[in-house]
Amino acid sequence: MKSFAFLSLLASLPVLTLAVSIVEPAVAKPVKRDWPDLDAFLTEVAELFSDITTDDFSDALTNGEAALATLFDIQTTQNLGSGCDDVTVLFARGTFEPGNVGALVGPEFFDALSSMLGSSKSLGIQGVDYPASIEGTNEGDVTEGETMARNITSILSSCPSTQLVLSGYSQGAALVHNAAVDVGSLMSSVAAVVTFGDPDSSTPVAGINPSKVLIICHVGDVVCSGYPVITPQHLTYAVNADEAASFVISQLS
Ligand SMILES: *[C@@H]1O[C@H](CO)[C@@H](O)[C@H](O)[C@H]1NC(C)=O
Repeated sequence: MKSFAFLSLLASLPVLTLAVSIVEPAVAKPVKRDWPDLDAFLTEVAELFSDITTDDFSDALTNGEAALATLFDIQTTQNLGSGCDDVTVLFARGTFEPGNVGALVGPEFFDALSSMLGSSKSLGIQGVDYPASIEGTNEGDVTEGETMARNITSILSSCPSTQLVLSGYSQGAALVHNAAVDVGSLMSSVAAVVTFGDPDSSTPVAGINPSKVLIICHVGDVVCSGYPVITPQHLTYAVNADEAASFVISQLS
């Protein structure tokens, strides 16, 4: 069992955006957020996950993320209120992540989006309620895609004028792909799609113009090639929170 040289890898983290579209962010200069402090966050990620092994990452991920959530006061469960918001993000977390949105990627993305929207539009977040277990990385994500699809249908029917954003990380990204197939033509009502560390990165998201889709994959993240192996590059998508939020902003009307 070998631990990763995490910090040195982070220092020279190459980032590749496998996408899909020419991104012209409406917000040229993302507003600087004070929470979470990205450097502090990534330092903590590096420490908490420094001894993660490819053989056993379940406990390491769950415990590490629970620690992160406590340290940075991250809300890992997000449920829409009763009202309809101008913008709704439906997010599927990665395998073994706590709550319904996890701690590694979703909350940082929501925070960036919320900062960029400011008071111009209200934002609602809903996590997909699914097990995020290792079994799902084989076949379960197809079944759980149906769970996400039901949420898409229900959000669009109860809030027809909300601008719906679909997003997912790791196994949650696979849910996005599967849910898109399930809801079929309803995808034309979706404003934007953003996936992180996407095992189906080479497959277009069904039913939606590719210009509305951003798939973010780091060089060295083999999950993006469909291998269920966790490398440090799979754990650092918080660095792309501003990029993802800018893309969403560019797709809103
Ligand atoms: C999403 O689906 C879950 C069940 O999987 C349900 O509890 C939740 O209320 C749904 N949320 C919305 C906004 O449709």
